[in-house]
Amino acid sequence: MLSVFHRLSERLQLALDFSFPEQAAAARAAGRPLDPQLVAASKPEFGDFQANGALALAKPLGLKPRAIAEQIKACLQADPAFTSLCLEPEIAGPGFLNLRLRPEALAAEVAARLADPRLGVPWAGTAAVLASAASGGDAGLVSPAEPVIVDFSSPNIAKEMHVGHLRSTIIGDALARVLEFRGHQVLRLNHVGDWGTQFGMLITHLKQVAPQALTTADAVDLGDLVAFYRQAKARFDADETFQTTAREEVVRLQGGDPVSRRAWQLLCEQSRREFQAIYDRLDIRLTERGESFYNPYLEAVVADLDASGLLVQDDGAQCVFLEGVSGKEGKPLPVIVQKSDGGFNYATTDLAAIRYRFAAPPAGDGARRVIYVTDAGQASHFAGVFQVARRAGWIPAGSRLEHVPFGLVQGGDGKKLKTRSGDTVRLKDLLDEAVERCEADLRRRLAEEGRAEGEEFIRQVATTVGLAAVKYADLSQNRTTNYQFSFDRMLALQGNTAPYLLYAVVRIAGIVRKGGDGVETGIQGRQPLAASTAASGPLSFSEPQEWALVRQLLDFDAVIAAVEDELLPNRLCAYLFELSQVFNRFYDQVPVLKAPPVARESRLALCRLTADTLKLGLGLLGIATLERM
Ligand code: ARG
Repeated sequence: MLSVFHRLSERLQLALDFSFPEQAAAARAAGRPLDPQLVAASKPEFGDFQANGALALAKPLGLKPRAIAEQIKACLQADPAFTSLCLEPEIAGPGFLNLRLRPEALAAEVAARLADPRLGVPWAGTAAVLASAASGGDAGLVSPAEPVIVDFSSPNIAKEMHVGHLRSTIIGDALARVLEFRGHQVLRLNHVGDWGTQFGMLITHLKQVAPQALTTADAVDLGDLVAFYRQAKARFDADETFQTTAREEVVRLQGGDPVSRRAWQLLCEQSRREFQAIYDRLDIRLTERGESFYNPYLEAVVADLDASGLLVQDDGAQCVFLEGVSGKEGKPLPVIVQKSDGGFNYATTDLAAIRYRFAAPPAGDGARRVIYVTDAGQASHFAGVFQVARRAGWIPAGSRLEHVPFGLVQGGDGKKLKTRSGDTVRLKDLLDEAVERCEADLRRRLAEEGRAEGEEFIRQVATTVGLAAVKYADLSQNRTTNYQFSFDRMLALQGNTAPYLLYAVVRIAGIVRKGGDGVETGIQGRQPLAASTAASGPLSFSEPQEWALVRQLLDFDAVIAAVEDELLPNRLCAYLFELSQVFNRFYDQVPVLKAPPVARESRLALCRLTADTLKLGLGLLGIATLERM
């Protein structure tokens, strides 16, 4: 209920200004206006919101908190803009103001949501929106739309795209979707590891085992690239001549030798095809901009750091020593930006990337927020690189640079996820298995229910549910913890799982359909909702289960705002799960289809808004919903 929250905040601010004009003016002049400290109520008994400001104001105002609360309350009660929203405030404890919204105000909010395809989530403003909000007094509601970069997925060429990359892909995509929905200009970057010394051995191996690949113009299938990588690595480790050739090959590649570059391209293309197959399956869009993109900028990074006096030569290498981070013997830790042999590394590339991403166009991306989604193991890498970038002055004031770390994916035994034979799990196999298990479950259920469904239906449901389960299992965990991968748990029909939520959507949409107003739920049915609500007259609710559902539904915008800010998709998952549970309590205990006409319409409206909220919420997590299952 962010819009209500902002309106109430304003009323409270005015009440403070009016009650304590001198202090309010002085506080404003000092740049710290008196704060009514409005928050969502900590318990339903306290109403919808609480204003806790009286306590902190007691000292500066030289009054008892209760007296301040009384004064604010008297003002609010004289303000029609307040009384049309809230019932009479209650003063609790030492001087808290408990605010309870009027039933009509809540019903009006529900009606507004039903007519709004964004379900109350405001657009981050463009300049024009911001200006009009400011003139309309709504400025607090609108944040500016910003260019945001989400750096995610980012596997390495010719290496395994492993479950860690899958986590990054799923979490990064969900965050990008939420930011896009808010109206930010999101650049989804795949910082593919397509450069580095490993190409020396890969190219050397390629030239020896498939020389024909370098002379034909057609794409050549190198077979299983991971196996190819292993073979190259084995030879590199065993054979000194191979090692020397591989090192020379790196130099040739960096020098732009056409044959070496062609080999490099072949390897990249083949990997790219394999990655793309996974992205297509998961419905994930990414713009590839690999490490090699930043090659032309590496020299400038070093020069820039030198010019700002940050560069220190240590043992032949060019380093920046970190402040506040020390290693074993208490010595400050360096970020190495150029090795003693003149080569650059992962950190140098990331420094070049940060510099480019924040630089104003056309020399860069002009981002205001840059988000990196990788495993927590890279936390100190990013902390170091971020510090160097800040000290170099590459991060414009007011912009954000964030590492979004996540924990390891573990098998049921709590160890790193492995296949039964001990190999790393291939992502394709993992997704296949999720879908196959879903299909088996589905066939069993259909048989039990005596339902006959076509193969097309079975394939579609199994694919949607299987992929949803993999994504949701990942997203619903607090990403910072390790997570135990379990097909049984993620495919369960009960609990905080994708099948449970998808099933809830189907069931609720079915109720709405049976309600017979002919209007499909809005978000994916793409039907305007306004007509249906306008036709059904004002909504009215009476039962506590209805109010519980209303309040849960109206929380959606605040949850999206929290995810946008904290970058924790599990908050949205927890909200959706809670919503379906609150809905179930409502539906179990309150008649809907059999209710008398006015109540029936209002309750059906809640069903419709619940289905829409679940669909939109799941959509923002990258999860498709079904009409039937
Ligand atoms: N390729 C890296 C890996 O596989 C992840 C890259 C993350 N992004 C970045 N800008 N460093 O671990």
